[in-house]
Amino acid sequence: MTQRPYIVGNWKMHGTRAMLAEARAIDRAAQRHMRVEVAIAPPFTLIHPIHREAELIAVGAQNCHEADGGAHTGEISAGMLADAGAKFVILGHSERRQGQKESNALVRAKADAAIEAGLRVIMCCGEDEATRDAGGAVDFVKKQLTASLPKSVEDLEDTAERLTVAYEPIWAIGTGKTASLADIAEMHAAIRALLVELYGEEKGSDIRILYGGSVKPENARDILGTAEVGGALVGGASLTADSFMGIALAAGETVDS
Ligand code: 13P
Repeated sequence: MTQRPYIVGNWKMHGTRAMLAEARAIDRAAQRHMRVEVAIAPPFTLIHPIHREAELIAVGAQNCHEADGGAHTGEISAGMLADAGAKFVILGHSERRQGQKESNALVRAKADAAIEAGLRVIMCCGEDEATRDAGGAVDFVKKQLTASLPKSVEDLEDTAERLTVAYEPIWAIGTGKTASLADIAEMHAAIRALLVELYGEEKGSDIRILYGGSVKPENARDILGTAEVGGALVGGASLTADSFMGIALAAGETVDS
């Protein structure tokens, strides 16, 4: 089974209730792009309001705690996110790995907790510029993913539904620089081979691998048309319905009608 392209907006720490109008516009526009799966991950405070209004798009979170509950001041569990209407959670984003010092082991524990709570997981990975320049990007990402991917998906029937991988080279995030199509193809092929090794041919072949890092309507068609790119994880360009749906339009054009 080949899955629909998956276009996910990561709003990061942007958005108050004033942004609900934009979410509504994205949801309405998504109805014109049914060959594409569109989702947004707003800040925690907007998950429930968007969930209540959205007819088509899924809403998700950008982080969760690894425990079910307890004395963890300021934290939020995967179960609480599901209760608020979240369908997925982005984990292992480089901004959390760097800013919050999240280790591979912690990211894996969070991912297992999310799967346990019934959420889908978007697992991020990506190298920094020095690693890319030194020729070590593929090795780095393979090791990072091997140590971060949740153990709990191995036993699921619907692994490819529950798990998505997002390759986001750190130096491409918010910089306007994107990886070359050849580099994206090389990395996505390596990630595909790893997923098949970890989860077997059938499940490993269907897990979508998104590209992220300065994806915009202008470059989306080329990136999304690259082998093994199953969608995009979009930061800045997901904050307005116009630019985000420009990317969804490009994704739709990559699907055979
Ligand atoms: P930009 O699209 O703003 O580069 O952000 C990418 C990203 O980090 C998505 O998770």
